[in-house]
Amino acid sequence: MDKAFFEGLSEEEARKKISELAGDYCELYHRRKEYTPGDHISYGGRFYDRREMENLVDSSLEFWLTAGRYVQEFEKKFAAWLGVKYCSTVNSGSSANLIAFMTLTSPLLKERAVKPGDEVITVAAGFPTTVSPIVQYGAVPVFVDVTVPGYNIDASRLEDAFCEGKTKAVMIAHTLGNPFDLAAVTEFCEKHGLWLIEDNCDALGSEYTLKGKKIKTGTAGHIGTSSFYPPHHMTMGEGGAVYTNDPLLHRIARSLRDWGRDCVCEPGQDNRCGHRYDGQYGQLPAGYDHKYVYSHLGYNLKITDMQAAVGVAQLEKIDSFTDLRREHHAYLLKGLSDLSDKLILPEAAKDSDPSWFGFMICCREGVDRTKLVRHLEDAGVQTRMLFSGNLIKHPCFDHLRDAQGVRYRVAGSLDNTDRIMQSGFWIGVYPGMTQSMMDVMIGEIHRGLQG
Ligand SMILES: Cc1ncc(COP(=O)(O)O)c(C=O)c1O
Repeated sequence: MDKAFFEGLSEEEARKKISELAGDYCELYHRRKEYTPGDHISYGGRFYDRREMENLVDSSLEFWLTAGRYVQEFEKKFAAWLGVKYCSTVNSGSSANLIAFMTLTSPLLKERAVKPGDEVITVAAGFPTTVSPIVQYGAVPVFVDVTVPGYNIDASRLEDAFCEGKTKAVMIAHTLGNPFDLAAVTEFCEKHGLWLIEDNCDALGSEYTLKGKKIKTGTAGHIGTSSFYPPHHMTMGEGGAVYTNDPLLHRIARSLRDWGRDCVCEPGQDNRCGHRYDGQYGQLPAGYDHKYVYSHLGYNLKITDMQAAVGVAQLEKIDSFTDLRREHHAYLLKGLSDLSDKLILPEAAKDSDPSWFGFMICCREGVDRTKLVRHLEDAGVQTRMLFSGNLIKHPCFDHLRDAQGVRYRVAGSLDNTDRIMQSGFWIGVYPGMTQSMMDVMIGEIHRGLQG
């Protein structure tokens, strides 16, 4: 290609033309390979077309690099799609959980702030980074058992886990897309004045009817979090989001994300409020540049505009992605329903319409999970554990185990959590699955149980 390609074109026209070429490239070279029996069936993956590639190239040619117009567009559209007021993108779902939890520790929340030693109710059957920020901060996770086959917190045990004066928050995920009992959990939180963080990383698009109103999960509590890592409901490669309806929580989350600063200017922007040199903060001299005033000891967890550009294209398709996830889950459920004497099959929570992340299975007594999973993997069907199974059995708890009751607490038994660790696994339902792939998955599970 020589410079003649650009002749007579404005910069914008040239960028558009190159982006369209990238779209053509995507169609030609990134075409989805037709599945043929014997191919590996992964549990999840990126699902995209020319729109993502066009946006990515458009953003890279613009070369803003850091958070810019695509980030602003994504945050606005994502919040609107969820039905919340405020959204902040961050560089992963784990960062979203970190920001969500640290937001609750802000001195701006005064007596409602979570302090070191305070207790946070959670579960051990899940992903570690729902729990890590609690421990890292020096608060005390209180582990409550989950139910089978809902795989979410057993809400009937919440009152037993509660400790007057100590319990300050509940931080739990909607497991594999299946909403936890939002009616019971929100009622419990309201009764005791607790914060609720919904880790919505695996449940984007799940719906729940709460107090007669259909809402999306992640929007019922004080803060919701998302992950945009490739197998998730939509992707930016790496990425995540924190969302809330509360302006103060939003302000704190933004501050923590953006180095802890007090100022709300976008990257590259100056004096948006017109009071850059007017204020007096902390013990700083009057008129100290507000751009460099820090109300928190924060982080930098922003995303690049290229990630957001991909996210904007993914968001256009999110409803079709969640529809496909629901269809695939239903197809697997039908195909495996004759195995309910050997396998515990998943059940959607009452009053919910899950946007499933995966299809969870627990082996019944007498069925060897490891043997079945080995069979499936050997047959090319990718499987996954329910993440940590039981987080407190992991090496990351070795140094904490002697401090049970101080650094963490277990409320009641974790029998179902242990059962999931020993006999549970899941398979994928992502939009890239086809009927023939699912037929192979169903067939191999039947075969694996015969052998
Ligand atoms: C429930 C849950 N929370 C948080 C995360 C972390 O997301 P990320 O991988 O983007 O850090 C995951 C990851 O899959 C998850 O499943």
